[in-house]
Amino acid sequence: MSMKLRKVSPNVGVEVTGVDLNESLSEIDYVRLVSILENTGLLIVRNQDISPRSLIDFTRYFGKACAYTRSKFELEDYPEILVLSNIKKDGKGIGSPVSGRAWHIDGHYLDEFPRATILAMKILQKEGGNTHFANIQAAWSSLPEEVANRVKTLKATISRVKSREYNYPERGPATPEEVEEWEDVIHPVLIRHPVTGRAGLGVGGNVPWDIHGIDDVSALSLMTFLQEWTIRPEFTYEHVWREGDVIAWDNWTVMHKASPYSGERLLFRTTAF
Ligand SMILES: [Fe+2]
Repeated sequence: MSMKLRKVSPNVGVEVTGVDLNESLSEIDYVRLVSILENTGLLIVRNQDISPRSLIDFTRYFGKACAYTRSKFELEDYPEILVLSNIKKDGKGIGSPVSGRAWHIDGHYLDEFPRATILAMKILQKEGGNTHFANIQAAWSSLPEEVANRVKTLKATISRVKSREYNYPERGPATPEEVEEWEDVIHPVLIRHPVTGRAGLGVGGNVPWDIHGIDDVSALSLMTFLQEWTIRPEFTYEHVWREGDVIAWDNWTVMHKASPYSGERLLFRTTAF
C-alpha cells in the first residue's frame, strides 16, 4: 500500500489515504506525517478501523501519549483514551457528550499545552458535528503591520477556572477543589511553535482575556478583532466527518471548535504532549 496525500484547503489540512494505522508506518511515512502535521496543522487519515492500542501507538508519533485530564470517561483498560460520546448504556453516558464549542487551543490554560490532539471516529453522527480549524500562523503572517506591532509583546493571564463557563456552561462553576488545583498561567498572545519556531495567534474564544497592561474593554475589543481575523475563510477548514476518520491536529498551528450534532456518535480521543 502506498500513501497518498491531498491538500484539503489552502492553509489547513492534508488528507491521507493508502495507510493502515493498525500496521506500523515506515520511517519515511512517519516523517512525512509529522512534517505535514507541523506545517498544515491537520492530518486526516481516512478509512481506519483503528484499535485502541494502535491509536495510542499513532499518538506516540507526535509526542508522549497522556490522559488529557483526569476523567470518568477513560476507555476501559486504556487510560490514555478519552471517550467522547452521547451514547448511554444502562441510563449512563459512556463518554463526554459535548466539548469545545468556542474556538480554542486544547489545554490553553496549561503551562505547556499539548502538541497534538487525535480523534478517531468510531460511530458517525447523523447530522451536524463538523469540526472547524483555523491556521493561527497564516493569520499572524497576514496581520496588518500596525496591529502586529501592538500584538507581538502582549501577555495574558489565562484562568482555567474562569474559562469553565465558556467551555462547559452545562457543568456549572469549578468546584472548590478544582479552584484550588487549577492555577492561572501566563502566555504570550503570540505563541511560538516549539519545533518550527513559527509564530501564531493564540487567540481562542474560550477564555476571558486578561491582557497585561490593557484595560478589559480594550483587551476584549482587540482580542475579538484578532479572533475574527483568524477565522477568515482563507485560514479555515471545516471537517465533515466520515466513519473511520482518524485526525490529528497541532495545537501550536491551528485552533479549532466543535459544532452541535444529533444522532449517536462515538469518538476516541488521545493527546500527545
Ligand atoms: Fe478541543
